[in-house]
Amino acid sequence: MKVLLAGATGAIGRPLLTALRTAGHEVLALTRTSDTRLPGVRMVVGDVLDRRSLLRAVDGLSADVVIHQLTALSKAPATYADMEMTNTLRTTGTAHLLEAARAVGARRFLTQSMVPGYGFVDHGTRPLTEADPFGRPRGSKADPVVEAMRATEQQVFTADGIEGIALRYGAFYGLTGSEGFVTALRAGKLPVPRDGGGTMSWIHLADAAAATVAAMDKGVAGQAYNIVDDEPVTWGQMFREHASAAGTKPPRRLPGWMLRLAAPYFATLMIDTSMRVSNAKARTELGWAPALPSYREGVEALRS
Ligand SMILES: NC(=O)c1ccc[n+]([C@@H]2O[C@H](COP(=O)([O-])OP(=O)(O)OC[C@H]3O[C@@H](n4cnc5c(N)ncnc54)[C@H](OP(=O)(O)O)[C@@H]3O)[C@@H](O)[C@H]2O)c1
Repeated sequence: MKVLLAGATGAIGRPLLTALRTAGHEVLALTRTSDTRLPGVRMVVGDVLDRRSLLRAVDGLSADVVIHQLTALSKAPATYADMEMTNTLRTTGTAHLLEAARAVGARRFLTQSMVPGYGFVDHGTRPLTEADPFGRPRGSKADPVVEAMRATEQQVFTADGIEGIALRYGAFYGLTGSEGFVTALRAGKLPVPRDGGGTMSWIHLADAAAATVAAMDKGVAGQAYNIVDDEPVTWGQMFREHASAAGTKPPRRLPGWMLRLAAPYFATLMIDTSMRVSNAKARTELGWAPALPSYREGVEALRS
């Protein structure tokens, strides 16, 4: 198939590009910068938030599938304001990309968000499934973040003539995701709550890419899929494991009040949020399973 990949230069975009090409797909890679080159693909230069520039960029092109992998997270989002651009990419960006999808004649559209869309609260020990409420506002500062996640899903599910599929990724690690953690650990700039914080479902970037290719092939229109590994883990444990693999000092343990003051968004994610997310639907319907089923194997892979 011919795939227009928006976000091809990002943390998930790069391994996804490799996975798509390995599976024999042709890729058109969207970027905002005209001097960016990626091996074996045609670059398409356009800004998703500039509708006219985007439609001009795809004029005359054709594709079977569009994949939305756009975020604005290269600066780690410590505050809610740091999430605003990513929220806009999920609301306005999705709307513009859907127009581009129509322009290129695509019949499938995959979008993505993250499992905290189930709510930045303590969900207890019951594994969350795709049947649980997603993107529901709860009268908190996190509402714009979850509402934007719901907005991207709703737009693709209801787009006329397009088969829309949504992926809800766990927190990314591995490859460039872990490089960022290790750099921050070495600099003593990766704080965690004193008690290790809440539990989170994670996914190695290589597994996230493989799941995305599977969803493109086998995903059912109008469906969302959790893309997480088998073993949720606390932030503290995940970052201690990274520190050990990288041979550097463990994360800085901070009292909750200090973390809330310095990085309110991170604090909500690490202290107030706790979730275990099920990947049963992706396993059954996409025929996908994580090659790295837990952080143990995933972080171990960083040693080699
Ligand atoms: N689930 C998760 O845990 C999760 C999700 C996403 C990211 N992250 C983390 O966040 C960090 C940074 O992510 P990242 O490396 O993917 O960088 P990023 O800055 O979030 O960029 C992601 C992609 O979006 C594209 N993009 C952004 N705005 C655009 C626009 N207006 N028009 C067209 N394209 C646009 C960028 O393309 P160009 O710059 O080439 O134009 C890039 O390919 C990584 O450490 C990653 O692990 C985590």
